[in-house]
Formats: sequence, structure tokens, C-alpha cells
Amino acid sequence: MEHTKHLFRAGLLMVALALGLVFGRHFTLPDTFGDEGYYRAASRLEFMALPLVHGGTESCKECHEKEHAAHAGDRHASVPCEVCHAPVADHVKDGKKIEGKENEMPANPSQRLCSLCHLKLAARPKTFSQIVPHDHLLELDAIEAGQPVPDRSCLLCHPPHSPNQGN
Ligand code: HEC
Ligand code: HEC
Ligand code: HEC
Ligand code: HEC
Repeated sequence: MEHTKHLFRAGLLMVALALGLVFGRHFTLPDTFGDEGYYRAASRLEFMALPLVHGGTESCKECHEKEHAAHAGDRHASVPCEVCHAPVADHVKDGKKIEGKENEMPANPSQRLCSLCHLKLAARPKTFSQIVPHDHLLELDAIEAGQPVPDRSCLLCHPPHSPNQGN
């Protein structure tokens, strides 16, 4: 008889825990949780209401057809315009270019921009095109030994939107 009492108490405890879980979940879950799936449905609407920052490569096309076409036809096609420039929201509002110096798109002509992606690094996949700027220019007779890499040197041979056109 003694042992049945223990079991009864343990059973009661488990029922109390289960009820606590069900009621606790009911009172602590945020509104709209589970309406669409295992997440808070209102969070989707909150994200949709945030202002647009990046528009993607297609958002530049209507105003920059020439650059867009050059870019689409060469090896930088997979690099979004906004990676080398800036988010479209800095530059365009309500379908028009925002006037003013501070809303101009940066267009960095320096070899440092190219080196961000193409500098030879042991950690980069071997299949990705990599160079050491100084060695690359030296091999091509575009620099004297010991001379620093001039800032605009990459653009002399590689237009940034179609980097293989110059080769
Ligand atoms: C790999 C980096 C890179 C990508 C990707 C890129 N650009 Fe550029 N873009 C540049 C650089 C660098 C310059 C500055 C060229 C110069 O000073 O001669 C430039 C200049 C420009 C200019 C100024 C006009 C000119 O040709 O000098 C426009 C407009 C432009 N880019 C639009 C775009 C658009 C639109 C896209 C995508 C379709 C794009 N760019 C993608 C690097 C890039
Ligand atoms: C609604 C039209 C419009 C859209 C969309 C637009 N631009 Fe422009 N952009 C302009 C105008 C106008 C100029 C100034 C004249 C010129 O250089 O063609 C300009 C100039 C530029 C310049 C030269 C620097 C400057 O600001 O004057 C760059 C670089 C550039 N845009 C990149 C981009 C990129 C990248 C995108 C897409 C993310 C984009 N633009 C989307 C209209 C637009
Ligand atoms: C955000 C990264 C990024 C930047 C910045 C960038 N590139 Fe590239 N570049 C790429 C990718 C991705 C490819 C295509 C994949 C590949 O060639 O392995 C590529 C391809 C190239 C190629 C063709 C290589 C080949 O083997 O055919 C050249 C040349 C090149 N880029 C030069 C430049 C120059 C010059 C600049 C600076 C104006 C520059 N890139 C800036 C990412 C970048
Ligand atoms: C004098 C012209 C010239 C200049 C300046 C130049 N390049 Fe090149 N680049 C070439 C030629 C030609 C090739 C193709 C032959 C080769 O691989 O050497 C090439 C190839 C490349 C490749 C592909 C390499 C590979 O092995 O896949 C990359 C990336 C590149 N250049 C980036 C740059 C960058 C970044 C700069 C600026 C530091 C630059 N280039 C300056 C002419 C030039």
C-alpha cells in the first residue's frame, strides 16, 4: 500500500507539470504565433514595412543601361552593383536620383577595391582568380621593380564592369 501512494504522488506531479506547460505556453506565446507556421506571423509584416535599402542589380538597369549590359555580359555578372557602389536607397528615392553631393554613388577606382576580392590569399578557393598586384603588373611590364602599385592601375586594362574586355 505504501508504494502505491508514492506512485500516486508522482503521477499527480506529472499531471500538474503538464497542465503548467499547457497554460504557461498559452499565456507566454506572443500574439499571431503559429498563424502561418512555427513563427510569429506579425514579424513578417514588420520586416515588409521596413524601408527598402538594397534593390539588387536589376534596380540600376532602367537608368544605367550601358553599365548594366557590360556587366551582364562578363565575369563580374555575379557581383551585384551595390557591392562595389552602395545601396540604391542612398542614391534613388521615389524613382528619381536624389540630388546632392552626399547622395552620389561611390565609384572607387583604386586597386584596393579589386584587391578586396582578388588579392592572393591562402584561404581563398584555388579556383577563384587571384593575383598579387605588384607581381601581376611586373609580369605584364606595367610597372618597374620596386615601384609602388599606382592607384588606378587595374582599370588601365580591366574595365570594372567587364574586366575581361581589356585583355
Ligand atoms: C567590381 C566592382 C564593380 C561592379 C560590380 C560595378 N561597378 Fe560600376 N564602377 C566601378 C568602378 C571602379 C567605377 C569607376 C570607374 C572609373 O573611375 O573609371 C565604376 C563606375 C560606374 C559608373 C560611373 C560611370 C562610369 O562608367 O565611370 C556607373 C554609372 C556605374 N559604375 C554603374 C554600375 C552598375 C549599374 C553596376 C551593375 C550593373 C555596376 N556599376 C557594377 C566598379 C563596379
Ligand atoms: C532613377 C534613376 C537611377 C537609378 C535607379 C540608379 N541611378 Fe545611378 N545615377 C543616376 C543619375 C541621373 C546619375 C548622374 C548622371 C550619370 O552619371 O549618369 C547617376 C550616377 C551614378 C554613378 C556615378 C556617381 C554619381 O552618383 O554621380 C554611379 C556609380 C551610379 N549612378 C551607380 C548606380 C547603381 C549601382 C545603381 C543601382 C543600385 C543606380 N546607380 C541606380 C540615376 C540612377
Ligand atoms: C566583390 C568581389 C569582387 C571585386 C571587388 C572585384 N571582383 Fe573581379 N571578379 C569577382 C568574381 C566573383 C569574378 C568571377 C569569378 C572568377 O573569376 O573566379 C571576378 C572575375 C574577374 C576577372 C576575370 C578573371 C578570369 O580568370 O577570367 C578579372 C580580370 C577581374 N575580376 C578583375 C577585377 C578588377 C580589375 C577589379 C577592380 C576594379 C575587380 N575584379 C573587383 C569578384 C570581384
Ligand atoms: C597592363 C595590363 C594589366 C593591368 C594593369 C592589370 N591587369 Fe590583370 N590581367 C591582364 C591580362 C592580360 C590578364 C590575363 C593573363 C594573365 O593571367 O596574366 C590578366 C588577368 C587578371 C586576373 C585573372 C588572373 C587569373 O590567373 O585567373 C585578375 C584577377 C586580374 N588580372 C586582376 C587585376 C588587378 C586587381 C589589377 C590591378 C592591381 C590588374 N589586374 C592589372 C592585364 C592587366
